[in-house]
Amino acid sequence: MIARLRSAAEEAASRAYAPYSNFHVGAALLFDDGAVITGCNVENVSYGLTSCAERNALFRAISESGAGRKIMAVAVANQNHAPSPPCGACRQVLAEFAQPDAMVFFQDGEGMTAISFAELFPLRFTLEGR
Ligand code: THU
Repeated sequence: MIARLRSAAEEAASRAYAPYSNFHVGAALLFDDGAVITGCNVENVSYGLTSCAERNALFRAISESGAGRKIMAVAVANQNHAPSPPCGACRQVLAEFAQPDAMVFFQDGEGMTAISFAELFPLRFTLEGR
């Protein structure tokens, strides 16, 4: 399953629209119903309107199937052989649906890092105490 998730992320990276950074990212999310949903980064000439692969995958998943599922694993790949953990904004967005023990796999040079979501993003913003 890890291999399948990683190759889905790699395939998604091949669809990235990244003419400005030339950094092609793909993300694959494994949900608790077994579905694998992918996304790629989509850049914009205004730069700031660029949308990351991880968030595109998540928003696609919710848009297509609703918000009733939990993320069990995440894989992120890029075509630049660069370390590529999810950015801070993507971590906060993924936290909304990721199980704390969900595993996150991302490139680490030529190797791969595997880390739990709780370890990757221990202090998410919440509205507790409001
Ligand atoms: N990018 C992602 O797709 N995911 C991340 O977690 C960090 C960065 C994209 C955004 C932009 O298109 C390119 O990588 C360079 O920052």
